[in-house]
Amino acid sequence: MLSISNILPSIVLALTVSAQVTLIVPPALQGQSNPSNNTLDLTGTETDATSIAQTVDIVDQKAGPTVDAPPNQPVPETAITAVDGQLTSAGTSKRRSLASRSLKKRSPSDYEQIFNGTGTDPSARDASIEGTAYLTYTVVPNSTYNVDACLSFCDTVPGCVFVNLFYEFNNKLLDRVFSQQSNLKCAAYADIHTAAEKTNFGGQQSYPAPGPLTFIQQSSGFAAKALVEPTTPDGYSLVFGPTGGANNAPGYMGFVFIDKYDVEACAQTCNTRQADPNGGACEYFNIWRAVVSGIPTTYTCALYFIPADNSTAVNFGQGDLVVTFSRGYKRTNFVVDGGFEGFPCFSSFCFAASYSKWIGTSARGGVLDATIFHFAPYAHAGNGVGLLGSADGTDSLPGTLTPAHPLTTVAGKNYTINLFSSSVFSGHQEEAGSFFKIVWNGQTIQTVRPGFSDWTFYSFAVTGMGNDVLAIHGGAAPAWSFFDDIAVFEM
Ligand SMILES: *[C@@H]1O[C@H](CO)[C@@H](O)[C@H](O)[C@H]1NC(C)=O
Ligand SMILES: *[C@@H]1O[C@H](CO)[C@@H](O)[C@H](O)[C@H]1NC(C)=O
Ligand SMILES: *[C@@H]1O[C@H](CO)[C@@H](O)[C@H](O)[C@H]1NC(C)=O
Ligand SMILES: *[C@@H]1O[C@H](CO)[C@@H](O)[C@H](O)[C@H]1NC(C)=O
Ligand SMILES: *[C@@H]1O[C@H](CO)[C@@H](O)[C@H](O)[C@H]1NC(C)=O
Repeated sequence: MLSISNILPSIVLALTVSAQVTLIVPPALQGQSNPSNNTLDLTGTETDATSIAQTVDIVDQKAGPTVDAPPNQPVPETAITAVDGQLTSAGTSKRRSLASRSLKKRSPSDYEQIFNGTGTDPSARDASIEGTAYLTYTVVPNSTYNVDACLSFCDTVPGCVFVNLFYEFNNKLLDRVFSQQSNLKCAAYADIHTAAEKTNFGGQQSYPAPGPLTFIQQSSGFAAKALVEPTTPDGYSLVFGPTGGANNAPGYMGFVFIDKYDVEACAQTCNTRQADPNGGACEYFNIWRAVVSGIPTTYTCALYFIPADNSTAVNFGQGDLVVTFSRGYKRTNFVVDGGFEGFPCFSSFCFAASYSKWIGTSARGGVLDATIFHFAPYAHAGNGVGLLGSADGTDSLPGTLTPAHPLTTVAGKNYTINLFSSSVFSGHQEEAGSFFKIVWNGQTIQTVRPGFSDWTFYSFAVTGMGNDVLAIHGGAAPAWSFFDDIAVFEM
């Protein structure tokens, strides 16, 4: 006996088809899709190195301890100083900072002196550093020129790789107010600076007029011999670096400058960057330091929706600008072969219900309700694409696409499920009823009813239970839905 589910869909299809004058050739017979206007187009998406260089020219993120700042303040959160060529009022943005980085205990021999002070002769005047990636300062006991105490302080400050040690005279706060009773300032930085950056000569009125102005003496600089190797952020892997080349790659989404070399802050920026409607979410960032005429000037996070590697890390700078400490980080996609590009096919057109990375399951009694195709005209990008809805039009039952193995996700972490979907194949009328559900460990997260809809980026927030099972369920031929570039990223 034929089951009702076998007969009914064929009738529905016959009716809808006869209502149309033209017969719809289903995907399995290599039917022609309604033309898409939104497949992935990488034209003009290369890194805009000119805009980055122009912004390097105007950004100013040099700092040091100010005359009235109290010592031992916590290191501020990493601030974004520019977004896509527009300077920000730095510090408005809250970012997770270097603070979580584990501190490595160093000894004085792990530092080298970069520059000396001008001596302690009362007439000898000097200047302290104003440079990038200033963190905080302390005062160290001034009974001697206490280099070791300053280096020990650096060891306690997350991200510190350089200190500037100097006397500041005629500072009323140091002399009379602050409890430490010392005028020997030790300023910590997350980048290394040179004597060329001694630009703060004092000259401030700290004692009330006509009291004497502040001045600086014996300003020396010490750097950690081994630069701190950044910790790879959660949900990312290091692709290359450090090198002297920034990426010049397609899929570029823009850039931000940050006030110190903070890989974690770049990762947060990538995670929260608005998706590109054509290319999708940020999947890769390139962090590098801009050195202008020998002076560290800013730290770039360039964002991409296509992971790059060092084969395109070929922008070494221009003019006075030199690229240093360039590293690439790729976001980990917990979906294996989310673009179906690994589906084996030895011609230009193949389809199957499953392959090693994905499993398509039909409804009970349904035929080819979930399939994988290798056919560029159906794909958002490349050749591979997933299909829900009976591929040969036998029935109008929904199918289910699921990765062949549970994801290597972790319980308690938040993830985003990203994908592109298109439901234009059979035209406005026939696609009106298109739908799909995002199912996470058997629970429906969301049902989407896009109707006739060209390639569109979707994202869904979920929390991991560990070894999570993702499924996409839907399709109702001839309201077919195609899926491509499926990703699960940690948030
Ligand atoms: C593509 O653009 C054409 C012309 O504007 C339009 O008729 C067609 O419906 C569009 N295709 C899709 C899939 O939106
Ligand atoms: C600093 O001065 C000392 C003593 O004069 C000298 O030995 C040392 O080489 C100098 N260091 C630098 C970096 O100039
Ligand atoms: C040490 O610092 C205190 C407070 O600023 C100051 O009064 C004193 O003169 C300093 N001593 C030396 C040796 O510079
Ligand atoms: C990429 O990295 C490899 C290994 O470090 C290196 O051999 C190669 O030259 C690099 N390519 C570029 C363009 O920097
Ligand atoms: C996950 O997201 C929820 C809701 O958005 C939030 O309350 C929670 O703190 C997040 N958990 C983690 C580990 O970030």
